[in-house]
Amino acid sequence: MPLTSPWRRDFPGILALEAEGQTYLDSAATAQKPQAMLDALLGYYAGGAANVHRAQHLPGERATRAFEDCRHKVAQRLNAASASEIVFTHGATEAFNLLAYGLDDEFQAGDEIVISALEHHANLLPWQQLARRRGLKLVVLPLDSAGGVDLDQAATLIGPRTRLLAVSQLSNVLGRWQPLTALLALAKAQGVLTVVDGAQGVVHGRQDLRALDCDFYVCSSHKLYGPDGVGVLYGRAAALQRLRHWQFGGEMVRQADYQDAEFRGAPLGFEAGTPPIAGVIGLGASLDYLGALDQAAVAAHEAALHAKLLAGLGAREGIRLLGSPQVALASFVVTGVHNADLAHLFTEQGVAVRAGHHCAMPLLQRLGLAGAIRVSLGLYNDGADLERFFAALDRALELLR
Ligand SMILES: Cc1ncc(COP(=O)(O)O)c(C=O)c1O
Repeated sequence: MPLTSPWRRDFPGILALEAEGQTYLDSAATAQKPQAMLDALLGYYAGGAANVHRAQHLPGERATRAFEDCRHKVAQRLNAASASEIVFTHGATEAFNLLAYGLDDEFQAGDEIVISALEHHANLLPWQQLARRRGLKLVVLPLDSAGGVDLDQAATLIGPRTRLLAVSQLSNVLGRWQPLTALLALAKAQGVLTVVDGAQGVVHGRQDLRALDCDFYVCSSHKLYGPDGVGVLYGRAAALQRLRHWQFGGEMVRQADYQDAEFRGAPLGFEAGTPPIAGVIGLGASLDYLGALDQAAVAAHEAALHAKLLAGLGAREGIRLLGSPQVALASFVVTGVHNADLAHLFTEQGVAVRAGHHCAMPLLQRLGLAGAIRVSLGLYNDGADLERFFAALDRALELLR
């Protein structure tokens, strides 16, 4: 049965790439955008842009309303208790940096921060820097063979010295859901603050952060079919109150004189300066678009594509799949072939896959690899994309072996 995507035509970027002879298989890095999102961006700019939270004039009020509506839409997607628990940043990476500065006062020398072995650099390097500043220890949770955090080891490593647990919901390399509920329970038993990297997980459907009960959850718009330049930091109301302000400037103050200032609480107290207004409005449009789709049909389409991808990789000799992916993504290496050579041949054949360390260098090192090829699919991909990928793979292997 041909695997066609009923949503492909909603994404002009994928059609433009196709017309150029390009097959886009790198959605975990950034997703293509639906026309509805592009219309929202154009509508905002062409209808009269204005700054938010500052002006009483009509364009200013209109922009503020549209911007704040999006905060509600994000809160709904995440099932946050209130829209005021949603802080907009300029990216997921910025949100992690905000946390690592904002939580500085929570630590004393000798305290421990626990992360997992598969973290993206965005959920690793800010904690490394914090650990350096405060004399903390970074403890790394090992993985099992499928690519999930080993819970038995986690139970021994999350202990009385742990102050913070920062873990990914879904690995961008291994494509595996992490045992978050169990990990968060271990953390809660020790009274530990919890940070979840939802950059990949949020793409695969609505979240229920109230049920998950983490303190903080981070994700970015551009992987969620929205514009780049926008990140989301969710914080439980009580957890947000523990954050120290970190960037200072317009609209984050209640009042200021020459010598001192009094700051607002969340969310505006953490959105200093002009926020990414158009980006946030665009994210709202992408969430509307995604929310209106038949979720079961999207999940079934992605699962069928994934099965075809895994079957095709499994049928070829010498391919080592990394872990046991559960979403429409697969990272692999080929015995005796350097991933950079393979990547070069994919590029030459117009197949856009990702190669390298995927911003998770320590994980690749732990797997004994310099890099890997990653194929990641969006809801607009179809069976023909995979056929082009396999044709390119076979041709590359023929040349390289
Ligand atoms: C798991 C994970 N965390 C964090 C990030 C960082 O997101 P951004 O580059 O949007 O700041 C990414 C992006 O690749 C990711 O895959």
